[in-house]
Amino acid sequence: MTADTVHLREIASTQGITVRRMDFDFPDSIPEFWCDNNAFLTAMMAGLSVTFPVGERYFIDSVRHYQDEVADPALRAQIRAFIGQEANHSREHVALNEFLTRKGYPVASMEAFVRERLKTVQAQSTPAENLARTVALEHFTAIMAKGFIDHPDFLTRMHPTMARIWAWHSIEEVEHKSVAFDVYRACVNDEKLRRKMMREVTFFFVLMSSVRTVRILKSCGQLSNIRAWLRGLNVLWGMPGVFRQILPAYFAYYRKGFHPSQQADSDYTETVKRHFLQMIS
Ligand SMILES: [Fe+2]
Ligand SMILES: [Fe+2]
Repeated sequence: MTADTVHLREIASTQGITVRRMDFDFPDSIPEFWCDNNAFLTAMMAGLSVTFPVGERYFIDSVRHYQDEVADPALRAQIRAFIGQEANHSREHVALNEFLTRKGYPVASMEAFVRERLKTVQAQSTPAENLARTVALEHFTAIMAKGFIDHPDFLTRMHPTMARIWAWHSIEEVEHKSVAFDVYRACVNDEKLRRKMMREVTFFFVLMSSVRTVRILKSCGQLSNIRAWLRGLNVLWGMPGVFRQILPAYFAYYRKGFHPSQQADSDYTETVKRHFLQMIS
């Protein structure tokens, strides 16, 4: 098997949600600044990866709590596919996070913080609040994923292995973007709580993503690398503006009658599948 081969096995597929078993290797030969050769962007993406194993287990728990209340067999099948996808994401990001640890990033302490924080939040929340929080975070991940897919150049400028894991994860986040939402609609359907949780999630997500980025930059001696900050912030918020361009999709969440399916899929979805995952669908 060559280094360029993608270890991809499709396990199950239902209504456009395909569970793909991946098996990524993250050798030490991958450079330290694997995203755009830029310390800021690498730190930001690494910080995201640190949250995934714990965060995605929380998403699974929140949705699984309502699984038996869902009568629609189509939605029940989607829930199983959603759980399959998120479980695989957790597994592969554990491997990525082990690579980040070997590079000297403070992964263990950041992950422990997320784990303890989410454990407390989960215990102090009602099942409806946990699901509303999950739905908000799923919208966040889906629109960020679409942002990455909309900018294949952003993925191309990563190390090829890193590009593949982010391409794969992004494709699947978009595929299952409606599942938690539909469970919420079927079992909770509280619009006020849905919006309230998005405000809470936005505050903590932005705050903690920033803290993690700074901590990682500090750990690798790049905190005062102004050029890296300027270049990274420009990619995200200036030109091309990977995050700037998802703002309308973010604000759409607060609209009455919002549904994730109202967000069009990226024009580049098939290109990204072919180019990064060598998938033909
Ligand atoms: Fe995921
Ligand atoms: Fe997800």
